[in-house]
Amino acid sequence: MPRRPYPLFENVTIIDAGAEGKAVARVDELVVFVPFAVPGDVVDIQVVARKKSFCEGRVTLYHKYSERRIEAFCSHFGTCGGCKWQNMSYEDQLMYKQKQVDDVFQRIGKFEYPAIRPILPSGQSTYYRNKLEYTFSNRRWLDREDMQLPAEERQMNALGFHIPQLFDRILDIDHCYLQPEPSNAIRLAVRAYAMEQGLEFYDARTHTGFLRNIIIRNTTTGQVMVIVVFARNDREDIEGMMHFIKSSFPVVASLMYVINEKHNDVITDQEVLLWSGDPFLLETMPDPVGEGKILKFRIGPISFFQTNPKQAWHLYKTAFDLSGFTGSEVVYDLYCGTGTISNFIAHAVKEVVGIEYVESAISDAHVNSEINNIKNTRFYAGDLAKELTAEFVALNGKPDVIITDPPRSGMHEKVIKQILEIAPQKVVYVSCNPATQARDIALLGEKYSVADVQPVDMFPHTHHVENVVLLKLTEK
Ligand SMILES: C[S@@+](CC[C@H](N)C(=O)[O-])C[C@H]1O[C@@H](n2cnc3c(N)ncnc32)[C@H](O)[C@@H]1O
Repeated sequence: MPRRPYPLFENVTIIDAGAEGKAVARVDELVVFVPFAVPGDVVDIQVVARKKSFCEGRVTLYHKYSERRIEAFCSHFGTCGGCKWQNMSYEDQLMYKQKQVDDVFQRIGKFEYPAIRPILPSGQSTYYRNKLEYTFSNRRWLDREDMQLPAEERQMNALGFHIPQLFDRILDIDHCYLQPEPSNAIRLAVRAYAMEQGLEFYDARTHTGFLRNIIIRNTTTGQVMVIVVFARNDREDIEGMMHFIKSSFPVVASLMYVINEKHNDVITDQEVLLWSGDPFLLETMPDPVGEGKILKFRIGPISFFQTNPKQAWHLYKTAFDLSGFTGSEVVYDLYCGTGTISNFIAHAVKEVVGIEYVESAISDAHVNSEINNIKNTRFYAGDLAKELTAEFVALNGKPDVIITDPPRSGMHEKVIKQILEIAPQKVVYVSCNPATQARDIALLGEKYSVADVQPVDMFPHTHHVENVVLLKLTEK
């Protein structure tokens, strides 16, 4: 039987900006998500996918543009998956992020909480990222103009970002507003060089081609690292490319490459080879305790570091302030990554114990303590669900404060149970996903009440919001 066509909803008013950066409309009882619309727009929506309680659609006609709508500043807006909220003012973006936290706390959390503090805006709303990964592809995303050209005249090589939901289509980027220069200059020069030399751009369908990815990292002090990922070990072409980057961009302090012969793009399980310069960058941040003291953080090619580093200071400072340290505390830093929070708070407490399952991150955490002459941190590599036991607490001392910063999926139930068992006076929960945070806090509600909530904007022009919550022990 032929499938019934999805409906077209006409003259629908967009009412909210929410999940995954999509705008929200309501048609009778049905919630409809559409990309790139703005609250207040009146539109026709073609439904493209239907689930039980909601459906996904795309706008086919704008009857009225919202007064809230502003002109997006990036020429790739609307195609690139990167900055979906550019057509809203920054004030509106902040308002909707704040609302997102309130909504999920009410809808999922159902616990009591004090008035949420006004979200901390990011000092920079463009060029704030310290890391971007561009992908080479011989399947360039073709716009309307390209499609007018005869097939043989279309440029099919691209270096840029994935088109959302299409693993093999890459949007060729002219200018990206996310990372400071020389990010754009390097990408454009490398693409031009690759075309001139006739190097093959990768084909993600057939797994053929030579050039796969280029990762650019930088620090707030202007250091730059470039990592080029090749699909095979063609020495001459690799040497040519590395020489080209080194001689064209003397600012690159660390030039590295990877030969990734696997079918997936993950390089954390591959050897990263140094071509020239240092194998790491050094990021710095003011110590929240020492007057004028600066903390250093080593960033290797695969180390995690918050991608908006200037705003990361405000995020960590929020967690620091909410913890209200007096100097005598034993603190556990759960999901500690490269120990950034541990080292950030170390001078203000008696001892910090960090746990994280990526071993190389734990090595970085040790190095970060060493280079800052910090002696009161201890780090363990292991899965928190297994590591955080009564024996672990007996060995490391009962924490007065637990700071937890889990991935988007939130904390494992076993970890929550264990926190309830350990029952520190305070839990400071840093989250990049308020929905899972709300779920976890509801479970912690058995012994904890919410004392403070501070959202922080780390990613302007996206729907992402970071949220820091202080929980206080209510039951002894
Ligand atoms: C949001 S990051 C935290 C980063 C760190 N606090 C910082 O600011 O640099 C979450 C971390 O949790 C780690 N992780 C995820 N699941 C884990 C688990 N089950 N056990 C231990 N660590 C885990 C990830 O490797 C990642 O480093």
